[in-house]
Amino acid sequence: MDTKRDVIIACDFSGAEETLNFLDKFTDVKPFVKIGMELYYSAGPDIVRQIKARGHKIFLDLKLHDIPNTVKKTMAVLSKLDVDMTNLHAAGTKAMMEAAIEGLTRPDGTRPLLIAVTQLTSTDEQRMHDELLISASLPDTVMHYAENAKDAGLDGVVCSPLEAAVVKERCGKEFITVTPGVRFADSAKDDQRRIMTPAEAKKIGSDFIVVGRPITQAPDPVAAYKRCVEEFV
Ligand code: C5P
Repeated sequence: MDTKRDVIIACDFSGAEETLNFLDKFTDVKPFVKIGMELYYSAGPDIVRQIKARGHKIFLDLKLHDIPNTVKKTMAVLSKLDVDMTNLHAAGTKAMMEAAIEGLTRPDGTRPLLIAVTQLTSTDEQRMHDELLISASLPDTVMHYAENAKDAGLDGVVCSPLEAAVVKERCGKEFITVTPGVRFADSAKDDQRRIMTPAEAKKIGSDFIVVGRPITQAPDPVAAYKRCVEEFV
C-alpha cells in the first residue's frame, strides 16, 4: 500500500466526458483523483477503468454502509476495479469494517487503502443529539469512531485538517488522515468553513489532501495542482 503524502483532486463532475476533458489537461503529470458517488453512479465502473488506464491513482469515494456481508461482497468488486483507496462509514460498526477488509483483500494479500468516514461534517452536534440520539460530544464521537476504525484494521480516516493532529495522537502516527477543506491563502473559501492551506495541512501531519474547486475551477488547473503539490508534498 502506497501511503506517501499526496494531493488528491476531487473530480466532482457529473459525467465521463467532462471528467476526461479535465484530465486531458494533465499531460506530464498524472494526479491521484477522487471519484465520488455522482460520477460513479452516472458513468459506472467503466470511468474507473478508463481513468486507471490513463495512469492515475484513484480514491473511490462511495462511503459504503450496509450489513457486513453486503459490504464484504461489494468491496471485493471494488478491489477488482483496482482502485488505490476507498471508504466506508465507521457508523456501520467494527464488524462491518472487518468484513470490508476481508472483501477488499486480494488473493495475493494486497488491497487498496481503506479509510473511514466518522461523522460527516454536515452533521452538527445538535442534530447528532436530537436526531441520531448520540449524547456524546461531536469531537468525542469522531475520535471514538476513528479508534473503532483503527481497531478494525482500517488504514485511516477522512477528517478536517483541524482534527488531523488529534487523530494522530490517539490512533498513532501511521494512521492515515485524508483531509478536505483545503484552500490556498489567496483563493475563495466557497462553502468550506474550517479550512487550511496545503502548507498548513503538511505542518499538522495530514497524509493526503483532497482538493476540488481550487484546482478544477482554476483558470489553469495544472498550475494550481502543481502549486498544491509544491506546498504540500
Ligand atoms: O471543492 P472542494 O475542495 O471544497 O472539494 C472538497 C471535496 O472533499 C468534495 O468532493 C467534498 O465532497 C469532499 N469532502 C468535504 N468535506 C468532508 C468530506 C468530504 O469537503 N467532510
